[in-house]
Amino acid sequence: MKKGLLAVLALASVGLIDSIYLTYEHYSRIILPCSTSIFFSDCGKVLQSSYSTVFGIPLALFGIFYYCFLLISSLFILATNNRKGIYTLIILTTIGFVTSLYLVFLQIFIIKAICLYCMVSALISTSLFIIVQIVFSRERKMLALLKMALIYRYVIKKILFKIDPETVHNHTVALGEMMGKNNVVKNLLSKVCTEKNESLEQTIKGIIFTNPVGLAAGFDYEGRLTQILPSVGFGFQSIGTITNMPYKGNPSPMLGRLPKSQSLMVNKGFKNLGAATMVSSLSNLDFKIPVGISIGRTNTVALKTQKQSIEDIIQAFTAFEKSKVAHSYYELNISCPNLYGDITFYPPKNVSELLTEIDKLHLKKPVFIKMPIEKSDRETLGMLKVIADHSPAGVIFGNLQKDRKNPFLDQKEVRQFRVGYFSGKPTFTRSNELIKLAYRHYKKRFTIIGCGGIFSGKDAYTKITLGASLVQLITGMIFQGPQLIAQINIGLIDLLKKDGFTHISQAIGIRNKS
Ligand SMILES: Cc1cc2nc3c(=O)[nH]c(=O)nc-3n(C[C@H](O)[C@H](O)[C@H](O)COP(=O)(O)O)c2cc1C
Repeated sequence: MKKGLLAVLALASVGLIDSIYLTYEHYSRIILPCSTSIFFSDCGKVLQSSYSTVFGIPLALFGIFYYCFLLISSLFILATNNRKGIYTLIILTTIGFVTSLYLVFLQIFIIKAICLYCMVSALISTSLFIIVQIVFSRERKMLALLKMALIYRYVIKKILFKIDPETVHNHTVALGEMMGKNNVVKNLLSKVCTEKNESLEQTIKGIIFTNPVGLAAGFDYEGRLTQILPSVGFGFQSIGTITNMPYKGNPSPMLGRLPKSQSLMVNKGFKNLGAATMVSSLSNLDFKIPVGISIGRTNTVALKTQKQSIEDIIQAFTAFEKSKVAHSYYELNISCPNLYGDITFYPPKNVSELLTEIDKLHLKKPVFIKMPIEKSDRETLGMLKVIADHSPAGVIFGNLQKDRKNPFLDQKEVRQFRVGYFSGKPTFTRSNELIKLAYRHYKKRFTIIGCGGIFSGKDAYTKITLGASLVQLITGMIFQGPQLIAQINIGLIDLLKKDGFTHISQAIGIRNKS
């Protein structure tokens, strides 16, 4: 980077001298030696044309300011390594390059003469543009992501948040599915949104995760986004929750927005197409990132007992186990708060009965249990103790926030909804506390996936340093835009570097040492 900046300084200095000379020529009306001397070259014709000034100010004078700005920005970056300075340099050199292209076009096609001094400036601007694009390729990508984030925040979100959330979700999924079928779109998106970096790659339970950021269960419950999510930058995704029997969803409203609380009201109750349909629609798909199948109990009054509920869950697992679906792992959702009846797998005895039956299946893929976040530390440890005696490989902390009085929830917003539970920021703190608890007691036994309220790289890093090996999210992406995934990955790389780590494994649980 230092060499690149020195090249920028050298070129900008030459450009500055060139511009000073041309400005001097303009005001002193000297006829430059290149006039009429070479074929097609006529500095006088160019520099005295009506295009050589804007509002009476010679373009060369703008050039002086431009190169001065570049010199100052480069010196500032050399001294401070400031990212905003780098963004300024990228923007300035892009503007300089585009302006140069336009001025060369004017000379060749409109004025029909070339000024060699102007061409020197154009050459310098082009070289500066290329050098900056190459040297600061990562910052260029971050700038593109920042622009996408601003467009999402100030334009797209403003429109989408005026439309019914369920309608927006359905159309977003349809658009994502369509984009996933187009290789050009996928390649373009990948260029900006994917961040391949060895420091983020992990192999967990034999599964290769190129980055630790996953899509949590509930967004792609029909598995229609599997072909586009890798290009958005996700390292893995969950499909579902899928249940043995289909369910059309709870009575409306199924979704709501709480912008001040940075949260969503969720009342879907496992809306899904059912295991058999999902098996056939996923069977022929090739997955580019690890896919988890989230399985839960069918939401129906027909399941009256715990035994029936366990049989129902076992049937869903069996359907996938016998299928050709190329998934990498399972999630067992025992924590959905929006279901009929009072069947619960929270008491240790109940979860033990369920897991005993699951153990008998000898599943080929690892299982992660999606945990509730409303239980006390003692109750959660009770559940973990039982889970540890069975086959699951890990736990996910966690599901939605049930406490309507949670301090992160704006009470006026909560009162708009008589049903449902809450995602996003209100889940962040409790999810972190439970990650910490589980890591302290079971770091050798469980792989922990952190989920709840991730809106930035820093949020994801907090969960990782408390003990999560992987993270998942939904709400952050809805509030910040799909570019958030790449921003989180880049943020993680920066935070690892800042803490002196070369690999994510060195950071897991680092803030959770007793
Ligand atoms: C619209 C929506 C639907 C959800 N559906 C499910 C689901 O079917 N299964 C599940 O395990 N979790 C579900 N969740 C919970 C999320 O997976 C996640 O645990 C929770 O939203 C916290 O993460 P977030 O703050 O990043 O959204 C859903 C969440 C949302 C926002």
